[in-house]
Amino acid sequence: MIAKARELAKEFLLRFGREPKVSRAPGRVNLIGEHTDYNEGFVMPAALEFVTLVAAAPRADRRLRVHSTTLGEMREFDLDAAARARHDWSDYVFGVAVMLEKSGRRLKGADLVVWTDVPLGAGLSSSAAIEVSAAHALLLSAGLPFEPVPVAKVCQRAENDYVGMRCGIMDQFVSARGVKGAALLIDCRTLESRNVPIAPNLRLLIANSKVRHQHAGGEYNARREACEEGVRLLRPALGPIAALRDVAPDELDANRKRLPDLIFRRCRHIVTENARVLEAERALKSGDFVACGKAMNASQASMRDDFEITCPEIDFLATLAQGLEGVYGSRMTGGGFGGCTVSLVEASAVERVTQALIDGYRVGCGRDGEVFVCSPSDGAGLLPLE
Ligand code: GLA
Repeated sequence: MIAKARELAKEFLLRFGREPKVSRAPGRVNLIGEHTDYNEGFVMPAALEFVTLVAAAPRADRRLRVHSTTLGEMREFDLDAAARARHDWSDYVFGVAVMLEKSGRRLKGADLVVWTDVPLGAGLSSSAAIEVSAAHALLLSAGLPFEPVPVAKVCQRAENDYVGMRCGIMDQFVSARGVKGAALLIDCRTLESRNVPIAPNLRLLIANSKVRHQHAGGEYNARREACEEGVRLLRPALGPIAALRDVAPDELDANRKRLPDLIFRRCRHIVTENARVLEAERALKSGDFVACGKAMNASQASMRDDFEITCPEIDFLATLAQGLEGVYGSRMTGGGFGGCTVSLVEASAVERVTQALIDGYRVGCGRDGEVFVCSPSDGAGLLPLE
């Protein structure tokens, strides 16, 4: 990555005629806890080695100029002019700039060059990676500190209010605050996190289905609305609950008749998923990998049957992995409707499992997938150039 950062710095020098600093922020894989973040619940993601790099240097005025090496495009933005979204990749950068300023952080103009190897549209949080990396670069250019959790909140706000996606805090949080060798148990209500080390004999294997359903954004927001509706309907029975985080699985069961079946099933996914995240944390910390795998498999079934955010290709990959020797558990990771599965695998089985997934997916779904091992990495930071 340092070689890539040097290359990017060189490109910056050629384009803008001065030396930049290079910020990095990773994508993520979520081990367990899907759609629980905006219900103020628990999640357990890890930061990936795939990153977005932003080379940047301040300007004397208040303009931002951003070049994407991935797309070969340049966009400009005036920090003092009225902000409007352009509905392209630059929204992630300018949205973050707008929200940083709204949060009271006075920015300087800057030139930026962006590069990424986070697979786009694969459910591995390429958007959080560019947001957090841009935030790091803009703050550095302005001589302001990068405080991971407050900055993650600003980036989430950029996505909610500027890009128009009602995401939770998970992706930005782990991209800003991830820890090498560990997943993070995040309490999305208090924004406290605990490191959950991944044992040396385990590997996180990611299988990219290369399927992405177009309506994913609308379906995501619809799931969020169903959860909010559940809270409204449960309040008369359960008192002043703020979110599904406040509902225990047995309380939900006891009030089943208050909810239409669809809303009940959406809520059941969330309340049981929260319990599974805590169980997975306990299991990983005590070396009980079988129990962790069981929680992951149950999460996959719940996403498929209750929350209905999987798709046939993802279900195929997860079921295939679950049946292989050396695999403790397997499930879809991320927002849903395509993307990737994550499997908890014995290190010694990685090659065999990888081949079985590639071959099985080609035969079973007629598609070429992609499988890679993820080593949990650190969250955002400055890359040394020497
Ligand atoms: C997307 C969102 C996250 C989270 C996941 C689902 O990645 O950005 O906030 O809700 O989906 O767990």
